[in-house]
Amino acid sequence: MKASITIEDQTIANVDTSLSILESLEKNDVKVEFQCRDGYCGACRCKLIDGEVSYFRDTIAFVGEGEVLTCSATPASDITIEV
Ligand code: FES
Repeated sequence: MKASITIEDQTIANVDTSLSILESLEKNDVKVEFQCRDGYCGACRCKLIDGEVSYFRDTIAFVGEGEVLTCSATPASDITIEV
């Protein structure tokens, strides 16, 4: 499946949804915060403004309503996020 990720003023089209959101951002030279890359520190937490995500691992870090951990989720639709 392909999706797009919009962050700030940039839209990345045709994102490979087998990659995490964080990996897709890095692949496109978008710098975002991260530390553990494993769902426990919360450093990669972003606001999910629009769209759906799906988690491919269990996470320990708190994720509030309207937030996403980019290291542990992939787009399930076109998404808009904000750092
Ligand atoms: S980088 Fe630690 S939870 Fe995502």
